[in-house]
Amino acid sequence: MNTQTGITLFRHCSLATLSGADWGWIERGALLAQGGLITWVGAERDLPAGLAVAEEHALNGALLTPGLIDCHTHLVYGGHRAHEADLRLQGASYETIARAGGGIRSTVAATRAATEAALLAGTSARADALMREGVTTVEVKSGYGLSLAEEAKCLRVARTLGQSRPLSVLCTYLGAHALPPEFEGRADDYIAAVCDWMAPLQAQGLVDAVDAFCETIGFTLAQTQRVFEAARALGLPVKLHAEQLSAQGGAELAARYGALSCDHIEHLSPAGIAAMRAAGTVAVLLPAAWYCLRDTQAPPVAALREAGVPMAISSDHNPGSSPCLSILTALHMACTFWRLTPLEAVLGATVQAARALGLRDRGRLAPGLRADLAAWRVEHPRELTYWLGGQPCAGRAVAGRWLPLNP
Ligand code: NIG
Ligand code: FE
Repeated sequence: MNTQTGITLFRHCSLATLSGADWGWIERGALLAQGGLITWVGAERDLPAGLAVAEEHALNGALLTPGLIDCHTHLVYGGHRAHEADLRLQGASYETIARAGGGIRSTVAATRAATEAALLAGTSARADALMREGVTTVEVKSGYGLSLAEEAKCLRVARTLGQSRPLSVLCTYLGAHALPPEFEGRADDYIAAVCDWMAPLQAQGLVDAVDAFCETIGFTLAQTQRVFEAARALGLPVKLHAEQLSAQGGAELAARYGALSCDHIEHLSPAGIAAMRAAGTVAVLLPAAWYCLRDTQAPPVAALREAGVPMAISSDHNPGSSPCLSILTALHMACTFWRLTPLEAVLGATVQAARALGLRDRGRLAPGLRADLAAWRVEHPRELTYWLGGQPCAGRAVAGRWLPLNP
């Protein structure tokens, strides 16, 4: 952690702490950080007397929130798939393109052909775009390498991103994303290989969680279960691309393995909702993918809300279904398309996104948590799901270190 040893004071701001069930609004607020952590939050007039402040940032009336957390991305890849977006506009479906050898497989070819340095450059530029919108933590999946060496290459790029940028990066191993051409007709053999590669990747410090794509064009329930068993044997948490294009029962399976999250879930069943609630599994909603694929089946937001399943929202940035580099646009879409409230949406990219990653040390503004902050040129946090574009982020703090933006 890049920590500050002295006390840092953030003042002349309002705060949405998100610490309770509401915004946790503090007008004319202030926040103290030390050693990378928040040490005090409150009204500026109540600041403790006699503080030896080492660094002070007057925020010009900005709104201070927790730094945003983008909890589902595929940031590491080569090339792009604009031509496939074109084909979809002419009527081809995502599945048809995938079955014809395009889709994820075409990105796998481009990713394998790219050097690690080129991948890092592209990944870093994409991460910079997310950071300009207040993101301080991002989850990054592999899944476009699909061999031990190529998955390791992609995961190293994700790890290096977290070391070379003021950004926390969590690395998720998604070997079970698609069947690579060299395993054509041998999906079970491929899953065996995916499971075998897990331990060496973990031993290299490259895996924080394990994911799979459980779908007719991905892997079956039984194959997904084998991946989860391998993860369990290594003590790694799991998550799942579940019920995106069809109902497979992936959510129930993932819940049985105590999954951190089930993601997409447009076709989630009542049984899946009940299983997720019982397991404490977070529902990660990905409206930009839904929008780009012109999907019509919305996730069961009202039923999730009623069941008390926490809902997170993410960009799902990837070159196929969601070439979206704006988490604020995803929040806007979650409200506009699916009627999340602005508070639910903002919680979805902070408190609930932290849960979806198994992180307890961030997502709210409270003493003892990481001083990861985002400052906004808005009056009220509901504006974060209201404006479309306009770069409202004035700066971020990562572990207490202030990083102004868009001056
Ligand atoms: O989250 N559904 C599977 N994975 C990605 C898409 C990957 C791709 O099309 O390249 C997703 O939507
Ligand atoms: Fe995804």
